[in-house]
Amino acid sequence: MKALSFILLLFTSLLSHAQTIVNGVPWFDQNGETVNAHGACIVKENGKFYLFGEWKSDTSNAFPGFSCYMSDDLSDWEFRRVVLPMQKDGILGPERVGERCKVMRCPKTDEYVMLMHCDDMRYKDPHVGIATSKTIDGEYTFHGPILYNGKPIKKWDMGTFQDSDGTGYLLIHHGPIYRLSDDYRSIDTLVANVKGMGESPAMMKGQNGTYFLLSSNMTSWEKNDNFYHTAPSVEGPWTRQGFFCPEGTLTYNSQTTFMFNDGELPMFMGDRWSYPHQASAATYVWLPIRAEGTKLSIPNYMQAWDATTGKHVDLLSKAKRVKTNRIDISSMDHWTSGADGTLRSNHQGATIGTRFSGGRIAIFGETNKHGAYGKVSITDLESDKVVHSLLIDFYSKVSDRGLRYISPRLPKGKYRIDVEVTGDRPNWSDKKGNKFGTDNSYINIKDFYLIKE
Ligand code: GLA
Repeated sequence: MKALSFILLLFTSLLSHAQTIVNGVPWFDQNGETVNAHGACIVKENGKFYLFGEWKSDTSNAFPGFSCYMSDDLSDWEFRRVVLPMQKDGILGPERVGERCKVMRCPKTDEYVMLMHCDDMRYKDPHVGIATSKTIDGEYTFHGPILYNGKPIKKWDMGTFQDSDGTGYLLIHHGPIYRLSDDYRSIDTLVANVKGMGESPAMMKGQNGTYFLLSSNMTSWEKNDNFYHTAPSVEGPWTRQGFFCPEGTLTYNSQTTFMFNDGELPMFMGDRWSYPHQASAATYVWLPIRAEGTKLSIPNYMQAWDATTGKHVDLLSKAKRVKTNRIDISSMDHWTSGADGTLRSNHQGATIGTRFSGGRIAIFGETNKHGAYGKVSITDLESDKVVHSLLIDFYSKVSDRGLRYISPRLPKGKYRIDVEVTGDRPNWSDKKGNKFGTDNSYINIKDFYLIKE
């Protein structure tokens, strides 16, 4: 009997730790902090996955460092450290921009080489920089700009690609592809110049040897319909193929950063930026890629999916919807209810919330072009202390309904969750001064769900 209950327990714990990747909601590390690794890449080593990315701040676009997280399953991420912090001076010093760090292990030297975009705060001094480390999770030593014929590459968005024979490549926005030297420390040759390529380049080799190159249009932190090129070799010839997500979805509201391909289930990795509060509110869109011949596609958006099978996971099948009569609204005057029951408010300070017993709660809501930041807070009713608080973004250029937040796993207890209209808006301008973002400060909440685990 004891053995049976042990097996059952093991089985349930395995089930609750299925390798589920959940898109468009914040993820939390072992400390309850958001997984903060944007413009990211993944390196697999000894069966573990290492995620590197921009360790964004909520208050400034200045470079605070690049972060590294580790996972056994692509789903639960453990924060390791800031592997490359802000430097004392130079192109990654104070009040500089550092973006899109990409790490590869150099087969010749066994060194880990990180390349990245370095810039000034107005994006007027772009360079591709290089840092190296003897261990995968750092700390990395910064060496300044990587050189080609003794000169820096003065360009911005970049990516890397490691071919199956170990050759390393640097991909540069709007066309250039460079082959790295054997030790990955400098650049050997310009091998291609891809006509019609955009920003945020990412490359993958398909099973039949076709090379796929993804890139985006130039709309700053706003999303657009990203597209791809294919070629029989990195040198080309490169052919433009069109969009890889259904047109109009704006790449499922994300921008390409990387394609992770360990030979099992190739995965698209994109950023759902949220300027100016990226550390809290920017999220990830990771989806399995379908590559056949010279066609690459992500036919359907899945809010949640299993990283081993690539199949959709219904997160709400085990959840309990909180009844409307249990929802507290600060003042009904400030809220309007849509035909489907979605409650909307743009009145600063207006709140909506509910009490719950359990350990994990989720918010289902709508993002659209009138949306802005809502502040979620969870209060432990016994101690009357706020145990978790975070900004979430209700803006998107194309409307979307889905889960916007799933709380960290809290000790089982009695809590209340509140969402407040902050009046704080995601607005920004691009490198040319064009204005982007919301036209109002709405938050739109449909339901709260208690997640049972
Ligand atoms: C584009 C780039 C990002 C970043 C932003 C800044 O989206 O792809 O990496 O530089 O612009 O506006």
